[in-house]
Amino acid sequence: MSLKWDDVKKLAAKYDKKNFLGEYLKWGERFQKALEKTPSLGISYKTLYVVGMGGSGIVGDILRDYLGMEMDIRVFKYTRLPSCVGKGDLVLAVSFSGNTIETLSSVSDALSKGADVIGITTGGKLLELSEKKGFNVIRVEKALAPRAALPQLIATALKIILGEKAVEELMKIADVLRDEASEYSLDTRDNKAFKLAYYIWGRLPILYADEGYLSILHRAKSSLNENAKINAYYQTFPEGYHNEVEAFKEIIDPVAYPIIFKDHGDNLEPFIKHLDDLEMDYLIIDLVGESRIEKILRAILLTDVASIYLAYLRKKDPFEIDVINKLKKMRG
Ligand code: F6R
Repeated sequence: MSLKWDDVKKLAAKYDKKNFLGEYLKWGERFQKALEKTPSLGISYKTLYVVGMGGSGIVGDILRDYLGMEMDIRVFKYTRLPSCVGKGDLVLAVSFSGNTIETLSSVSDALSKGADVIGITTGGKLLELSEKKGFNVIRVEKALAPRAALPQLIATALKIILGEKAVEELMKIADVLRDEASEYSLDTRDNKAFKLAYYIWGRLPILYADEGYLSILHRAKSSLNENAKINAYYQTFPEGYHNEVEAFKEIIDPVAYPIIFKDHGDNLEPFIKHLDDLEMDYLIIDLVGESRIEKILRAILLTDVASIYLAYLRKKDPFEIDVINKLKKMRG
């Protein structure tokens, strides 16, 4: 590697003045604290609707990937809900700031349709609305930005849905996240997250995984967009066998770089074989963990931290999101 580790540390000191990386290294303890502090509400419902956008909306995607084969979970990242929503349904509204227009509008729609609502937030207008309308809100620990607060947002949602019975298993994941995060810090030279950033640097990542891991792909894309300020695209399989693969008739644009999140027994093998036949350069990230939720959270931690190292390599501040903020203001 031509870059010295000291140079990476210098880039971090210069471009990450707020120590945004440090936020991600706290994921284990934040996940644990949220599990301890969230009350077991003992809820029951016909269908669970999860609403929220961006760094809050990803909670819905993760819940669907983890629980969607056993429970009726529907994720909406929009301003309203379908007409079938009504009494007996629960709408989980996730907004770190509590001020996101789409989420607030979906909550108003849910209330007008007679559904139950539970909010997950740090405060803002969602909290005010809950006081006015009398629905439950669970307040989460603050963080530097919504996307850095994923552990407290997802742990709170999991405890609300699964209750006390899931806590023991989830606590083990908190320990794993704590250990793994420490391996990704600037104290560990050329660590796995940095290496991933180094592979992506100067390329256009195209992210692939089985349909059941859509949350990993969407979060990786979002973190590369928001932290590293680059484009990234993704496709799930088996759907990709019906379109995406045809783009690999021959070696495509050398800048495009396939990154495959791989699990045992998933749908990716024939695609990987095809890339090998083409002698195409690609990267595999093995999903590791004892449960689907562990695999998802560990993959997200790795790619999120990689997106921060990539910001350093690209001489960008991973924390600043000027364009998102500018357009939020324009939209009111
Ligand atoms: C910022 C981020 C954004 C926000 C989104 C919604 O860190 O990740 O994607 O999450 O703009 O805002 P909140 O989460 O406050 O509802």
